[in-house]
Amino acid sequence: MRWDNHRVVITAAGRDFGRTLAIRLADLGAEVFLSARHLAAARRVRDEIRDRGHQRVHAFACDLTDPASIRDFATGVAEHTDRIDVLVNNGSRYLDGPDLLSATDADVVDTISSGATGTVLTTKSFLPLLLNSETPDVVTMVSACGTPGHHRSDAHDAFYAAKSAQAGFTEILSKRLRPQGVRVISLYPPDFDNADPLSEEWETTPREAEDALTAHSLVECVLFAVAQPRDCFIKAFHFEQV
Ligand SMILES: NC(=O)c1ccc[n+]([C@@H]2O[C@H](COP(=O)([O-])OP(=O)(O)OC[C@H]3O[C@@H](n4cnc5c(N)ncnc54)[C@H](OP(=O)(O)O)[C@@H]3O)[C@@H](O)[C@H]2O)c1
Repeated sequence: MRWDNHRVVITAAGRDFGRTLAIRLADLGAEVFLSARHLAAARRVRDEIRDRGHQRVHAFACDLTDPASIRDFATGVAEHTDRIDVLVNNGSRYLDGPDLLSATDADVVDTISSGATGTVLTTKSFLPLLLNSETPDVVTMVSACGTPGHHRSDAHDAFYAAKSAQAGFTEILSKRLRPQGVRVISLYPPDFDNADPLSEEWETTPREAEDALTAHSLVECVLFAVAQPRDCFIKAFHFEQV
């Protein structure tokens, strides 16, 4: 599927998986509105995409812990377009350490705020633009840590809390927005191999049954879900861990 008619918003696209999605979707023809916590990081990725010959890409600053910053991001995007077709809630701070006492209070607040509150407020801010689309989709990068009973990650408890909040939010939202035609698609990956899409490793990282999940395969999950006809509402992707 080509994405030429798709206008896509991606949070935290200054590096890693958000950047990967921005590059891959732009390569497929999408108009990309990408944000990063720092404008310089967003502009770097915008310029990388422009250097690949795609001019329909826009860079914004968005700190997911700051409601005003999220509103400004949505306002900025609305100055370019009256609709968006896909919102990718990618951003969420990771916090390591399986010991509750190992993190500062500030780390806990930041982790839960960026992942949980940030996802709710970003979706709220962009919903009016999504509702102007004939094919609106909200894609959220949750995590296996958002699955009830999951315990195999070394992530901090606050990260589990943030991901569980994202899971609860997208669960109810998928039911409540379905009558308005919005599909809410959530991915629950375990730790995955995050190769740079512009590196050789992107193509050469093994993707066999005994291998860890790759960003390459995750991108293909997103492409697949969005490409389905509207009656096919893939609500969640869960992955068996190796
Ligand atoms: N990588 C994995 O194995 C894995 C597994 C399961 C789920 N996930 C989820 O998939 C998504 C992408 O993963 P990833 O590996 O690319 O994540 P990552 O490498 O941990 O990067 C986190 C991203 O979130 C951004 N971020 C953190 N706090 C922010 C804030 N307050 N405002 C705006 N942006 C903020 C970071 O921006 P800065 O550059 O400014 O720090 C960075 O772009 C995340 O939601 C993650 O939880 C990842």
